[in-house]
Amino acid sequence: MTNTMQAAQINHYHQNQLVIQPTPLPRLQANDVLVKIMAASINPLDLKIMAGGLKLILPYQMPLTLGNDFAGEVVAVGPNVTQFKIGDAVYGRPRKSRIGTFAEYLAVNAEDIALKPQNLDYQQAAALPLVGLTSYQALHDLMDLHPGQKVLIQGGAGGIGTLAIQLAKSMGTFVATTASRKNFELVTTLGADRVIDYHTENFAEVLSDYDAVFDTRGGHTLEQAFRVVKPGGHVVSISGLPTAQFAKDYGLPRWKQALFGLASHQLMRLARQSQATYHFLFMWPSGQELQLLTNLVERQTLRPLIDRVFTFDHLNQALDYSRKGHARGKVVINIGER
Ligand SMILES: NC(=O)c1ccc[n+]([C@@H]2O[C@H](COP(=O)([O-])OP(=O)(O)OC[C@H]3O[C@@H](n4cnc5c(N)ncnc54)[C@H](OP(=O)(O)O)[C@@H]3O)[C@@H](O)[C@H]2O)c1
Repeated sequence: MTNTMQAAQINHYHQNQLVIQPTPLPRLQANDVLVKIMAASINPLDLKIMAGGLKLILPYQMPLTLGNDFAGEVVAVGPNVTQFKIGDAVYGRPRKSRIGTFAEYLAVNAEDIALKPQNLDYQQAAALPLVGLTSYQALHDLMDLHPGQKVLIQGGAGGIGTLAIQLAKSMGTFVATTASRKNFELVTTLGADRVIDYHTENFAEVLSDYDAVFDTRGGHTLEQAFRVVKPGGHVVSISGLPTAQFAKDYGLPRWKQALFGLASHQLMRLARQSQATYHFLFMWPSGQELQLLTNLVERQTLRPLIDRVFTFDHLNQALDYSRKGHARGKVVINIGER
């Protein structure tokens, strides 16, 4: 192994192309494993970071290697790591301060990864960690959904939606979702019970009394969610405005807590009016929760859906494709076979 590797980086914010350039191999810390990355997936988070849209909650030093989830093979282990060994096939979402999966190698805390499901290849596995964990944390940890409850999942055909529909069905719920008409068959196959074409129908006029809404859109779509949810229900958004409580839990300084409090004032008012809760979720890495997803995949309850696979050298085309906002499932980058 040499001391350098190829990594896809930005040198400053507002750069809309990544540059593949040589960079030092990541340094292994005591609780880390070093992974040879075989595949990674594109997440809209990569685009938001590049555009500088998350600077308030995620400030990064430049140059920055992008990429927020991966699947690969363990090639070295730190002295404190007991649960993984060289040669293990693993996957994961590294913690936010240590992203950088669009690279040949990644040093990652062993707590943030799990063994790759045996029935998935590396590309399929790379499609799962970020969207799988986000969906699990929204539907299970925050909404605590129970069999027989009704949940609306916005954007059923996307990376999040294709996973969230399957998870919600595995929890025994009735699932409504929004999609373009061309994706009706896809989301129905994944288990959606009610599909709404968001181009021609307003979900807030046709749905009511829902136990929960999983919002992936933010803005006006999120505001309308409070018309659909019933008293005691939950609205969880991953694209809306963060709340003061989120900023506090996330450890942001008081002035940022106040800023987010002001910005989310209208949403909190809507939540009070409909006697529902509103949470902004910024997903967290968790090897333990990922292991639960591995189990679901191996029991064939859950399967990642891949729209397209691009080579590492075509990473910028993959970003452009994702930027259009109509991927069916995930866009994956093949890194190991370059
Ligand atoms: N806070 C967090 O922790 C977190 C974590 C993950 C993702 N996110 C955010 O969640 C959002 C969704 O992520 P993703 O990975 O699912 O993105 P994605 O895969 O790029 O989403 C694409 C999907 O969005 C659908 N879509 C586009 N406009 C829509 C609309 N107006 N109503 C309903 N669906 C619409 C498209 O469906 P059709 O083609 O059928 O129109 C397409 O299938 C992104 O903004 C992402 O940044 C946040």
